[in-house]
Amino acid sequence: TGPGLFGSRRNSAGFDLTDEADLARIEAARAPHAATLFDARPRLAGPLAGGQRDEIRNPATGAPVGNVIPAAAPDVETALASARVWDAAPAERAEVLRRASDLYEAEFGPIFALLAREAGKSQADAVSELREAVDFLRYYADGAGTLSAPPRGVFTCISPWNFPLAIFTGQIAAALAAGNAVIAKPAEQTPLIATFAVDLMHRAGVPATALQLLPGDGPTVGAALTRDPRVNGVCFTGSTETALMIRRAMAEHLDPSAPLIAETGGLNAMIVDSTALPEQAVRDILASAFQSAGQRCSALRCLYLQEDIAGHVLPMLYGAMDELALGDPWALSTDVGPVIDAEAQAGIRAYVEAARAEGRVLKELAAPAAGTFIAPTVIRVAGIDRMEREIFGPVLHVATFKANEIDAVVDAVNATGYGLTFGLHTRIDDRVQQIVDRIRVGNTYVNRNQIGAVVGSQPFGGEGLSGTGPKAGGPEYLSRFTAHPATHSAP
Ligand code: NAD
Ligand code: ALA
Repeated sequence: TGPGLFGSRRNSAGFDLTDEADLARIEAARAPHAATLFDARPRLAGPLAGGQRDEIRNPATGAPVGNVIPAAAPDVETALASARVWDAAPAERAEVLRRASDLYEAEFGPIFALLAREAGKSQADAVSELREAVDFLRYYADGAGTLSAPPRGVFTCISPWNFPLAIFTGQIAAALAAGNAVIAKPAEQTPLIATFAVDLMHRAGVPATALQLLPGDGPTVGAALTRDPRVNGVCFTGSTETALMIRRAMAEHLDPSAPLIAETGGLNAMIVDSTALPEQAVRDILASAFQSAGQRCSALRCLYLQEDIAGHVLPMLYGAMDELALGDPWALSTDVGPVIDAEAQAGIRAYVEAARAEGRVLKELAAPAAGTFIAPTVIRVAGIDRMEREIFGPVLHVATFKANEIDAVVDAVNATGYGLTFGLHTRIDDRVQQIVDRIRVGNTYVNRNQIGAVVGSQPFGGEGLSGTGPKAGGPEYLSRFTAHPATHSAP
């Protein structure tokens, strides 16, 4: 009886981008921040040394967005020496996190401006990112009171640039809800959003010793925070390669009981069989592959089309791609913004050029000349097992299969060793059950797109090379941040 464990929670209402009044509210709240120069620097419970000031530029326009003073080596030491677990009662911690979630919602103007200008997020992505961050704060706040075990101590939280607010906030909120001290290391590309968010959490009442921020490079600042024995756990989201490096550093330097909670990359597939509804499949392929300029870990990388319908569905897909608006995400009409920086752009371009030289580019839009854009592109591939790595941008691979090959396709997807998201479009109920039973991924989506998991309803995380679990935004997550006896034994 009653609403259940987390039943009192309500997800953020967000904004309705088809509502003129909501659009006007967004434009009015963002306008004062169209040219603001934001500031990022370590937030320490002690004196700041600081490294060399650097400039952050808008990936779409090249215009300055702000400055960052990264952490210097003495700042890492200051953070570790001054970190203290948050010894407030769980109900008080929950109250503070809820207050932070309200502040996030109230500050949507500068947050949307930062998400567009620093991270290149379209308005649709910015809306869902803010909602997800708010939902994480409220979900883990509700969970705080359900924990019986004490905190572990000091948690290092290392996050990526592609969800500079939602994942950054989710990691911190979970560690804080359990009462840990957090030292957060945001991605090099997005320190301005991180600093803005930490300031909101401090304003809400999180003590300075319980939450410190160290913007800086992964191999220096990040690495130092994974190899100091004063660290009792690491929460990481980013590439599989970096997660493996962190695991090695932790094995060498940290207490064996210190957990690594890692959410990493994926080689995500979708199967569309001949019974799928073509219009629906095309809409969901488009969102899965190209929304967020393909820069979601959940994004569709390899589409398997049953060959009987490929000649019909692919032209529909190309037609739908032609409708995508590429450009500066500050324009509310933009569907696809830039990739995060020139390095990412150069890497993806080289990959597409190699495919072009082999005659495998099937469709390509035109990218704006300025800014770090990659035009949505479709590339033919023999199968996902021929893809060497995750291409983190708006590049969709397409393979075809015969009716009797569907089991082999599932085997090929499983054989990649990654296991993050998977999509299936079919009208055959038995087939849904058979494939769902066999596919080894964290999140499977049937007859819909495969991005945008909702906190509390669709816990998100992968298996194999895609993550350690437990899933973020799910009921198992918080206890991993506590000194639970079950997780104390050495491996
Ligand atoms: P990345 O691994 O390059 O960087 C992630 C973070 O790790 C950054 O803060 C970086 O500074 C830090 N880092 C780098 N080297 C480090 C080291 N030696 N020690 C400690 N920290 C270090 O990843 P990215 O390019 O920022 O993000 C994209 C990747 O993240 C993609 O592979 C994507 O699939 C993955 N991702 C996964 C999820 C998920 O939930 N599974 C979500 C978002 C992104
Ligand atoms: N949680 C994000 C999604 O599902 C990564 O797309």
